[in-house]
Amino acid sequence: MSLYYVIEMLPNQIIQKKEVLNSVLSNYRLLNNSIGFVPTMGALHEGHKALVNKASNENEIVVVSIFVNPTQFNNKEDLEHYPRTLNADIEVLKSIKNVIVYFPIEKEIYPEITSFKSFNLGVLDKIMEGKHRPGHFEGVVHVVHNLFEIVKPNKAYFGQKDYQQLVVIKKMNAHYGFPIEIISCETIREKSGLAMSSRNMRLTEQEKSDAIFIWKTLLFVKENKINYSPSELIDLAKAFFEKGNLILEYLEIVDIEGLELLKDWNSKSICCIAAYCGKVRLIDNLLL
Ligand code: PAF
Repeated sequence: MSLYYVIEMLPNQIIQKKEVLNSVLSNYRLLNNSIGFVPTMGALHEGHKALVNKASNENEIVVVSIFVNPTQFNNKEDLEHYPRTLNADIEVLKSIKNVIVYFPIEKEIYPEITSFKSFNLGVLDKIMEGKHRPGHFEGVVHVVHNLFEIVKPNKAYFGQKDYQQLVVIKKMNAHYGFPIEIISCETIREKSGLAMSSRNMRLTEQEKSDAIFIWKTLLFVKENKINYSPSELIDLAKAFFEKGNLILEYLEIVDIEGLELLKDWNSKSICCIAAYCGKVRLIDNLLL
């Protein structure tokens, strides 16, 4: 059987074992083909689909991992309620060409013997998501590190909705010296402006409409940037947010590189929000 024929047969396979994944990918490596990687925790939506489509256009083969990573959940209830929708996920990916689904069990990702050494994320772990979800980024770094070692992609794709995660991933990619290009992809939104998220599945219709207030507040911040200093605008935006039905966890304006709090508008900035809509915690951001 020719190598080409083997490759033609592969799209949309589901693989659970890293040995199998690697033997499949080795065919692509032999041909110097580019391997794209989209790590996910499943419950795929249009945002994920956009990542996989982009990866499929830019690489000969795309690995989509589906693994609900327990180490990044600081809240047991959140982990328990995280949607698991494998069949629907496969349906989403079916129409995209050259996709392999990697669906490992926990032992595959976290073997007993490991060479992984964590590193200090500095301020990234002390503000916003880092501050409110202790241990979260440690878990993200660990799982993405291990997935990068298994998949060894040329390019890996992450959404800007999790902006702080994107900055953390870039830092960890550089720290461990992975030869992987990190591609950031813009947030996909519903018509209402609500950012697509797997957690939206847990919202009632009423909550979905309440949740739009996050987007409205981000637009309010962007529109009022010229009139106020960052700290004045944060206060005004918090007061604006209170008109809605959500419970604000944080609203910050930070610089886009190191995520330091902004004193003036001299650096490029981003406004980030986390809020509870009922029991569901949502995050979103907007470059200012
Ligand atoms: O963004 C996510 O879905 C997760 O944090 C990731 C990157 C797949 C790691 O588990």
